Amino acid sequence: MNAVTLRVNGTEVTADVAPRTHLADFVRESLNLTGTHLGCEHGVCGACTMIVDGRPVRSCLSFAVACSGADVRTVESFDDDPVMDLLRHAFSRHHALQCGYCTPGMLATAYDIVTRLPNADEARVREELSGNLCRCTGYVGIVAAIRDVLAHGPHARTVTTKRSARSAQVTTTGWNVAAKIDTDDGHRGRSTGLIPLPARIDGGITLSRAVFVPVPVDRLWTTLHDIDTVAKCLPGASIEEVREDGSVLGAFAVAIGPMRARFTGAAQVSYDVASCSGTVRGAGGDGISRSRADGVIEFRALAAGNQGSKLDIDMTYKLSGPLAQFGRPAVVTHVVDVLLGDFAKNLALASEGETVIASAPVGGGGLVLGTLLAMLRRLFFNDRT
Ligand code: FES
Ligand code: FES
Repeated sequence: MNAVTLRVNGTEVTADVAPRTHLADFVRESLNLTGTHLGCEHGVCGACTMIVDGRPVRSCLSFAVACSGADVRTVESFDDDPVMDLLRHAFSRHHALQCGYCTPGMLATAYDIVTRLPNADEARVREELSGNLCRCTGYVGIVAAIRDVLAHGPHARTVTTKRSARSAQVTTTGWNVAAKIDTDDGHRGRSTGLIPLPARIDGGITLSRAVFVPVPVDRLWTTLHDIDTVAKCLPGASIEEVREDGSVLGAFAVAIGPMRARFTGAAQVSYDVASCSGTVRGAGGDGISRSRADGVIEFRALAAGNQGSKLDIDMTYKLSGPLAQFGRPAVVTHVVDVLLGDFAKNLALASEGETVIASAPVGGGGLVLGTLLAMLRRLFFNDRT
């Protein structure tokens, strides 16, 4: 069990939760807030959508422990909210619900649309609603209700949503390296912000991996000191600037099926020559999805077999924002395994003096398929590899 403290509907809540408990189960079963509905529990239907740190989130895919420090609003918290009041009445006027099962999630998404996108036209409303499924209404009434509030609810244009500053989950060091990240200002524009690098990550997910690199360890170790080359070896990574203090500004792109993200941020690399080991601390943001990733990677190069090396890697990461919904260990594990496979091959090439062309990001349908196959193997054959 993990202790978690978060704010739910304005009240601070502390509880012990199992790492696999998702946010929807936590609020429904531990806090008895049953207004949030669960449909698919696979991130498809949107019925479980609630507002976390001012943004709509699929609570069936968000681990409660990953929401430590977050400000959570369920449908129960909107009784006195003037914008939600407009939406409720508009939903009623336009027959935007029948059985009502999808409605708490629809209202959460609708609230986000009318407060974030005051000029949204019908196409944009439909696009924003595309993550919420309704089996009854055919959507016409729902879209009409939202457009009605956009058109006739003038205070919806001036209302400022309380996007709470999420209390820091990531402990930062005194040697913070400020990194530029892309953030979304809610109107598809871009701005930049500053983020610190993590010293340690509380409540993150840890993966341990070892890869074999068919070159002697001294050559691998030399390659690992060349940041530009290491970035070229890692699919999806690119470097903008290497600073004198060893910090690196750059980007990391990844794609899982239709979901694409490009995290821009910073990393600090440190080496311990005596033990052939090192640490990478990194943090970055994806401006399109408004998600953030923090990670700490510890690596150690060891001699292995005849003229070969083993690279031991321990990685702890934390995803927050909408992409955290795709941060399930099974998905991330598969992404990491594909990445490391290519990384090891490229490191071997680079250590042999071959030119490494920067690798494309991992992604595509094959990755999704591979992830599904890995999950099925675990499910049916108890394969823990
Ligand atoms: S229950 Fe369907 S997306 Fe969460
Ligand atoms: S009103 Fe029944 S599922 Fe939407």
